[in-house]
Amino acid sequence: MVATKTKPKSLEELGISSTILRKLYEAGITTVEALAAANAHELSQTLAIPLPTIQRLILQARNALGLGFKTALELKKERMNLPKITTGSKNLDSLLGGGIEVKTITEFFGEYGTGKTQICHQLAVNVQLPPERGGLGKKAVYIDTEGTFRWERIEAMARALGLDPDKVMENIYYVRAVNSDHQMAVVEELRDLIPKENIGLVIVDSIMGHFRAEYPGRENLAVRQQKLNRHLHQLMSLAELYNVAVVITNQVMARPDVFYGDPTIPVGGHVLYHAPGVRIQLKKSRGNRRIARVVDAPHLPESETVFVITDAGIRDPD
Ligand code: GTP
Ligand code: MG
Repeated sequence: MVATKTKPKSLEELGISSTILRKLYEAGITTVEALAAANAHELSQTLAIPLPTIQRLILQARNALGLGFKTALELKKERMNLPKITTGSKNLDSLLGGGIEVKTITEFFGEYGTGKTQICHQLAVNVQLPPERGGLGKKAVYIDTEGTFRWERIEAMARALGLDPDKVMENIYYVRAVNSDHQMAVVEELRDLIPKENIGLVIVDSIMGHFRAEYPGRENLAVRQQKLNRHLHQLMSLAELYNVAVVITNQVMARPDVFYGDPTIPVGGHVLYHAPGVRIQLKKSRGNRRIARVVDAPHLPESETVFVITDAGIRDPD
């Protein structure tokens, strides 16, 4: 169901000399995005190319990706025109300001069974829709850290949208991350996969599971946070440089010991607090109804809405 294929700008098109080009390739830098994200000092040393040359090349790559200086007005236009992915629920879309945005990390957090994984499944399907139906006409990556991905759900959701289920499943790159190191290594691999396979959405369901299990307790909090910050930074750089939407989930447990304020603030505080992006809290309501609430998004008003989880997927209530 991949309708539009935007060709990534290649390193060749930057007019880099063939000698340097060959060296870059040998160092594993094969795309403009990878060059834009490179560390000038490291690269200069490993490739034995003078630092000023490398710095110029990196700057060129960043400019080619629109990462150079721009005016605030240009920034406004760029942000307002970012493509969005529909969630399947008009209510949820408008809460999000039109849908899930590219170049942004969107976090869904809430207790078990609130619909985080169902939303991820739905988005992996919806990103493949053509733009006129609320998609990007692109593929999805699904990083599953808890083993809760179900192809049967993808099949059902695709069918409900009148799409060919096999084609839809073929456009979802699934990986089961076995621990936090694996989870982070997979994200590194995406730097090659995203441009090559026309990926528009990267899902990490859930972001914290492995980190929580591997670094339990308060005594490990600092180390865990450090590593998690690196992971979030990886994801932010993916979103920015590769023009993809990043969606992460985070399970929070109700804390019976909290009497004042919100009892579903995760133990150890909001670990994702400092990462920019959109944060949506999910809560159970009657039956298959779920409440979604925007939490501290700089550009969205604090408000809430209701959606439902049906056999067909995420929808508006009747
Ligand atoms: P945790 O991962 O445990 O934190 O929960 P979660 O927030 O990821 O919950 P999930 O997205 O797995 O939502 C589970 C809910 O979705 C269940 O309570 C079901 O009500 C609903 N659900 C899952 N599959 C189906 C389905 O095939 N049909 C319908 N109608 N509902 C479903
Ligand atoms: Mg889940």
